Formats: sequence, structure tokens, C-alpha cells
Amino acid sequence: MHALPAQKVLVIGRTGQVAQALAQAGAGRVVNAGRPELDLLEPASVARAIDHHAPDVVINAAGFTKVDQAEAEPVEAESLNVDGPRALATACRSAGIPFIHMSTDCVFDGTLARPYRPDDLTRPLSVYGHSKLRGELAVAEALDRHLIVRVSWVFSQYAANFVRTMLALAQTRERVTVVSDQIGFPTYAPALADGLLAMADAICSERFSHWGTYHLAGSGETDRASLARAIFDISRKHGGSFAQVEGILTADYPTPACRPLNARLDMSLTQDVFGISLPHWEDGLAETVPLLVKKLAVI
Ligand SMILES: NC(=O)c1ccc[n+]([C@@H]2O[C@H](COP(=O)([O-])OP(=O)(O)OC[C@H]3O[C@@H](n4cnc5c(N)ncnc54)[C@H](OP(=O)(O)O)[C@@H]3O)[C@@H](O)[C@H]2O)c1
Repeated sequence: MHALPAQKVLVIGRTGQVAQALAQAGAGRVVNAGRPELDLLEPASVARAIDHHAPDVVINAAGFTKVDQAEAEPVEAESLNVDGPRALATACRSAGIPFIHMSTDCVFDGTLARPYRPDDLTRPLSVYGHSKLRGELAVAEALDRHLIVRVSWVFSQYAANFVRTMLALAQTRERVTVVSDQIGFPTYAPALADGLLAMADAICSERFSHWGTYHLAGSGETDRASLARAIFDISRKHGGSFAQVEGILTADYPTPACRPLNARLDMSLTQDVFGISLPHWEDGLAETVPLLVKKLAVI
């Protein structure tokens, strides 16, 4: 699907991983809004910011994203992941503009033997997953002209993510234990941002009618332990930290929140409707690790 670029894209979130990648990918037409100007916990600030910026389209890259912490803070997770998106969708409806809301593979239980399609049965295993699913429903209820875009295993040079965590751990440890039975399609945030902006362009067209839920994920499957090994192999070549990776089972590594063992998101619908596919995770990793090695060396 070819569309004229949206002139002004309002991205909710400033310092977050996807928010920064969107700012970079859409320099010149992306405006980021975040606290204190726009606080998702204050609906009045949401409407005010959309009124003030008068964008063509809004992408929400903000939310309560700490999966384990959400187990202890369910009320905060609900406010940020349900009430916040509802306020955004309502403000977009009033402004007559479309809205893209980001969601997660954690709406699924991960028991399917194939990648998840957007219309597969949802069954979250965690407080975070439940809050994100209720957020999806709240957006769909408040606004017809919306896309829910589920993503997973996002990494980049920006903010906190698995790659940064591994490199930082290896600065103080010779061995790290990483689960080997969680599989996914790691997704490079800059490529994800390009995909989100292409979707934003498409939905600004008068002719667009395929509203609903989509998946956006990188190409290539791996498990967490193999991903960690790939990170350290690149890091070592660039003079960065290195650790041996010991694979363990999720069942032997209890965390406050349960995560789906199968986090793979099927991209077919996104390819069919928008003509978008994202590059292999190895390409993104080859760019990310050297940048993070440099950043971590100066901290
Ligand atoms: N990272 C992943 O692997 C992954 C996987 C699945 C789904 N997702 C989804 O993708 C989206 C983006 O994730 P991310 O990894 O980029 O998140 P992130 O790096 O944790 O950033 C979260 C963003 O939310 C903003 N925020 C938090 N509380 C707020 C409030 N009260 N009002 C306004 N903004 C607030 C933060 O703002 P400040 O800049 O002010 O701190 C930050 O910009 C989220 O919807 C997440 O659920 C991510």
C-alpha cells in the first residue's frame, strides 16, 4: 500500500525505546509528547496536548512496560495501559484523527505451536498482559479509526532492553544464565519505527478501511539463550564485554510475571494489507551491539 507521508505524527513517549526510534526515523515530521506536558494518568493533559499539536495521526509508544513490576503494581499498570490509551483514543475521536496503539505478545499464553495471528485466542498470563489486552479493548471501543499493533522482543541502542541488559551483566560476570525455551522474533526498534510510520501514512489516506489489529515483528526465529550468545559474539569482536551463556528452562527460573514461551507474532496480515516486512534480527543486532559497546564503555 503506497500512501503520501503524514505531515505531522504525534508520538506519545519521549525517552522510551520505541519513542526514541520513532523520533529518529521520522525526524522532521514526528513530534514527541510526554510528561509533564502529556501525562497518561491525567486525561485532561492528553486532550490538551492533541489539541495543541493538531497532528494528522497519533502513535502511542508509552505505557507501563515493566512486566515483572506490574505484578506488584496492578492499579498503576491498569491506569497507564487501559485508562491512558482510552483517553488518547477518545481525544483522537474528538479531533477526527486516526490512532495507532502499541500492544504486546503478552496478550497470548504462548502455547500455540506456530506464530500467533492477530485473531488468535488471547489469554494473558500476567498482570501486564491483562492490562495490555484491556487497553486494546478500550481503544477499539472508543475509536473506529484505530490500529492495535502488537510487537515483541524489541531491541536497539535506545533505553532499556535485552541486549543492553546482557552487555551490562557481562561487565561483572563471566557466566550468565538465560532461558532457552522462550522463542520469538527479535525486532530492531529502528526497523519497527519505519514500519509504524508506514502504517501511519497508510491510515491517513481517506481510502483506508482495514482498521483493527496487526502484528509487527522482525524476521528470523531464535530463543533467548541463543540471542544472548549472538550478542556476546558480536560484542567480543568489538572489544566489548563477553560472558558464557548457560541455557536454562523457564520453569527453573521463576520470575514474578509469567511470559509466553512462544512469543512469535505472525506478520502475514501486515504484509498483505500494508506490504510491510521487517529485516532479520541479526542485521539489527550487528548495528546495535557495537553502538552499545561504545555507550557502555563511557558510563
Ligand atoms: N520493548 C519490548 O520488547 C516490547 C514488547 C512488547 C510490547 N511493547 C510495547 O511497545 C510500547 C513501547 O515500549 P518501549 O519498550 O518503547 O517502552 P519503554 O522504553 O519502557 O518506554 C515507556 C514510555 O512510556 C512513557 N510513560 C510512562 N509513564 C507515562 C505517563 N504517565 N505518561 C506519559 N508517558 C509515560 C515513558 O515516558 P518517559 O519518557 O517520561 O519515561 C516512556 O517514554 C509499549 O506499549 C509496550 O507495551 C514493547
